[in-house]
Amino acid sequence: QPEQDLAGRRVVVTAGGTREPLDPVRFLGNRSSGKQGAAIAEAAALRGAEVTLIAANLETDAPSGCRVVPVSTAAELRDATLAEAAGADLVVMAAAVADYRPAAVSEQKIKKGAGDAGLSLELVRNPDILAELGRAPHEGTVLVGFAAETEADDDRLLELGREKRRAKGADFLVVNRVGWHEGFASDENLVIVIGPDDGIVTRAHGTKVSVAHRILDVVV
Ligand code: C5P
Repeated sequence: QPEQDLAGRRVVVTAGGTREPLDPVRFLGNRSSGKQGAAIAEAAALRGAEVTLIAANLETDAPSGCRVVPVSTAAELRDATLAEAAGADLVVMAAAVADYRPAAVSEQKIKKGAGDAGLSLELVRNPDILAELGRAPHEGTVLVGFAAETEADDDRLLELGREKRRAKGADFLVVNRVGWHEGFASDENLVIVIGPDDGIVTRAHGTKVSVAHRILDVVV
């Protein structure tokens, strides 16, 4: 039984990857499995928190001990997150949220045109949920964001993470290297956590469960 250092705290975690529908059978998505977010939710529950997991298309089992709110699109994730975040002690935005969605969703399955060479899709920007939380008054709520980056260079990763933390008004920013074979679907993760004064508060490399506990250690 881990130390109950989150007892009496209300924690909201978003996890997974949003899907933006194009038509009744297709969507734009990403390869986030939701494993890191689910591990954070479960770790927080084990440490005594009352946890709500806002789950976007998880490709992992929902963790035990948490209330799960299933969502699919960025718009649904936004509605659920804004509702749950009010008055929470900690909000961890681990979900990979689509930056863009199709400008229109076709009522019917999009058909190939006879002899056409290609198809262009028009996309519009989705609202940035973390930035919205960061801008709004949130006394007493610690905000943790993630940055999934494909940069190989450590200094560049840190620079991106620091910029992102400030731009979104998060207290902590977890920088996470992702690629074709690392990060999203794997059971292991390598992260750098940037703190409120832009310093590195921890680096963690290991299973997503151990990384979850390290992130919670610094937040606590
Ligand atoms: O800008 P970028 O997508 O790299 O930022 C990642 C962080 O911002 C994550 O914490 C993610 O959950 C959050 N985010 C968001 N709303 C978006 C896009 C990202 O809350 N539309």
